[in-house]
Amino acid sequence: MSLPGASAMTSPGSLAAPGAAPDRGVDPVLEIRGLCVDYGFGDDAAHAVADCDLTLGRGRVLGLAGESGSGKSTLAMAAIRLLRSPGVITGGEVLFHPRPASDGEPATTLDLLAAGEQELRAIRWSEIAIVLQSALNALNPVSTIGAQFDELLATHRPGLGRASRRDRAGDLLELVGMTPDRLRSYPHEMSGGMRQRAMIAMALALDPQVMILDEPTTALDVVTQREILEELMGLRDRLGFAALFITHDLSLLVEFADDIAVMYAGRLMERAPAASLFRSPRLPYTYGLLHCFPPMHGERHRMDGIPGSPPDLRDLPPGCAFHPRCQWAIPRCRQDVPKLEPLTGSHREVACWLHRDNATAPPELMRPDPAVAQPRTAAVSDTSAERAV
Ligand SMILES: Nc1ncnc2c1ncn2[C@@H]1O[C@H](COP(=O)(O)OP(=O)(O)OP(=O)(O)O)[C@@H](O)[C@H]1O
Ligand code: SF4
Ligand SMILES: [Mg+2]
Repeated sequence: MSLPGASAMTSPGSLAAPGAAPDRGVDPVLEIRGLCVDYGFGDDAAHAVADCDLTLGRGRVLGLAGESGSGKSTLAMAAIRLLRSPGVITGGEVLFHPRPASDGEPATTLDLLAAGEQELRAIRWSEIAIVLQSALNALNPVSTIGAQFDELLATHRPGLGRASRRDRAGDLLELVGMTPDRLRSYPHEMSGGMRQRAMIAMALALDPQVMILDEPTTALDVVTQREILEELMGLRDRLGFAALFITHDLSLLVEFADDIAVMYAGRLMERAPAASLFRSPRLPYTYGLLHCFPPMHGERHRMDGIPGSPPDLRDLPPGCAFHPRCQWAIPRCRQDVPKLEPLTGSHREVACWLHRDNATAPPELMRPDPAVAQPRTAAVSDTSAERAV
């Protein structure tokens, strides 16, 4: 894809001064700073997440994209301390900023990586809920949906009586488009879409401030997937939770996320408002990802994709880990690791030497950035048509 009339452009000093981060002005609910995660120890350790910074704004949807194995799930699971062995968190902090108390008193920020098990138990589900790809695995196959709601509510809302718990469970199912009689069903009696809806209802049961959605609809057909995501985003607007939405499918993120972060080989490589990332990617890897998906509309053209495959995380190439696959790599890319840094005059960050110092970026990576919308929160109503680009 090339822009009509565009020519190679030089981007001297295009990196902004520190402090001009795209997250400035966003009220953060979850801040991941310098997160590092390995699988295994010593020379054989796979560096699945390397020095990642990511901020989720209150009421916003942050999409996380990248090829399989890039570290998306590891980042999310480590951030909420649900990482399984042999995963080891080797550095960083994850700050959870609860909403202010009803009397306006600011709540105390908690570093989830330093928190004790008891503090974490109080926060998981109540404040930070998770929906994973496979509801069949997440739901208990030998309990009815009603019994699973009942257990969840009895544990976290001990003041609620049995009848109130049942009413609340029925209301939650209705919220996700199911009838309360489904409380009597076992997971195997429901379709994949219904199970996923039931999981979302359970995740919403305690009115969380953050939802982690790890490929929540990948296993479903495209029609059900879209229905569920549209409902989920409608609920986000009504209930005001923030969502970290992980998927391979950038086209979905463009439609449903406010901002998108792109991960490669354990590192965050680009982050931008969804429309900016989609229409004017600055990173060669993002450009390649966008050209892996055929457009729904417009003229047909050849899909180039990305040559080669992701590197072995135990033996990363020197410099930018993407350089063996990058059509625009320059000598510096083979030596130095680029850091994710803000770009001047935009609400975006990129880790790429082409946008640093006197490097020359190709026209494909210098398309004009569409107008950057003001941060959207749940309080601001917007339609999916307005979101779509
Ligand atoms: N239990 C494990 N033991 C060793 N390595 C692991 C383990 N789980 C994940 N990894 C490695 O960590 C890297 C990141 O995996 P992760 O599952 O986070 O990627 P992902 O981006 O979520 O991929 P996908 O899109 O396929 O879900 C992968 O290279 C994977 O091989
Ligand atoms: S730093 Fe170099 S290798 Fe990496 S994405 Fe940018 S141009 Fe390509
Ligand atoms: Mg994953």
